[in-house]
Amino acid sequence: MDFRIKFSGKAHDYTQEEIDTVVYAMKTAEPYTQGAYQKAFEQKFCDYVGANHAFAVNNATAALELAAQLCQFQLGDEVIIPSHTFTSSAYPFAKKGAKIIWADIDLQTRVVTVDTLAKKITPKTRAIVVVHLYGYAADMPAIVNLAKQHNILLIEDAAQSMGTSVDGKKTGTFGDISIFSLHSHKNITTLGEGGVLVVKAPGVASIIPLLRHNGHCPFPFERENYWLPAMGNVDFPELNEQILWPNNYCLGEVECALGAKLLERLDQMNREKRNRALYFMDTLRQYGALEFHRVDSDRHNYHLLVARVINGRRDEIIKSLAYEKGIQCVVQYYPLNRYPFYQKLGFGEADCPYTDLFFDNMISFPFHHWMSNHDFEYMLQSTQEVLEQLS
Ligand SMILES: Cc1ncc(COP(=O)(O)O)c(C=O)c1O
Repeated sequence: MDFRIKFSGKAHDYTQEEIDTVVYAMKTAEPYTQGAYQKAFEQKFCDYVGANHAFAVNNATAALELAAQLCQFQLGDEVIIPSHTFTSSAYPFAKKGAKIIWADIDLQTRVVTVDTLAKKITPKTRAIVVVHLYGYAADMPAIVNLAKQHNILLIEDAAQSMGTSVDGKKTGTFGDISIFSLHSHKNITTLGEGGVLVVKAPGVASIIPLLRHNGHCPFPFERENYWLPAMGNVDFPELNEQILWPNNYCLGEVECALGAKLLERLDQMNREKRNRALYFMDTLRQYGALEFHRVDSDRHNYHLLVARVINGRRDEIIKSLAYEKGIQCVVQYYPLNRYPFYQKLGFGEADCPYTDLFFDNMISFPFHHWMSNHDFEYMLQSTQEVLEQLS
């Protein structure tokens, strides 16, 4: 079906300056991976979020695979993850042997809280994954205290929340390990794929280059001739006296150059999205059918524009918007325990009533940054008409 306004997987357009940055990097990068642009991007990312150790990777799923490896799970270890999230917030941890324990969300904020997490902690809990879903930063100061109290590793999935902060501190700087996404749909995208891993401990940071790139490292001795015994060394990254298998999760130089450039426009794009979101929800408030999460601060970047339909007519609203107005709304994120994938792994049960209540009534509006004002006004007007019709 051809929609007048589709749920686009392309988050934003590029400015001429950003395009010029890509072309310049194409002409000047040498090599095309792991060179000066990567270094500059990682430094700029550290400065932007306020971290000490950031690593560019080929996507956020790769960053989550690294995060899961760094947890060094032992048999029986548990990891607490919200079931209301994208699949790669979870499966890398199962892949590395952890038992997934699903945590519920808060109905209003749609993210985990210290209470929903605390309920799921057992003596076997090794790690907690907090997902700042839809672009809203969870209550990290309280969650950091909880994790510290129980000596649990804290991982932030900031794939959707780049640029948001809690009490002036950016998401991705609270956790022991944090990940960001530069995927096509995200707040900024490095031509479709990309991600960043942030780690806190200097000892962990020191092994990431090996873990990210095939175990490549310098020889541990002075070489008399630079070509002997070979061009480079290969070894296992080691953490806590255990070896880890290496991977190849690098991000190319052109993407890194673009990522660095886009950081300059991120705050502006987040602000523009938030202002639009607030205008949308304030205009629709009179109808009472949609419950949005209204946050007028940089704690929310409105990566996505979602609401809970409280009159039980979610599917009729989506149907009318789609077939009468040509607007493609969707429902996200299917509670992960409902997928055959997680059921086959034995993680099909979740005691998460608010997740079920929210998901079964949620609507996600198309909300790409490049939507024209004209289309945005059309979507708002159409939603008003449909809500009036169905009231
Ligand atoms: C919450 C969340 N975590 C992780 C990811 C994975 O990101 P990527 O596509 O960069 O691997 C996504 C992407 O959709 C996401 O929304």
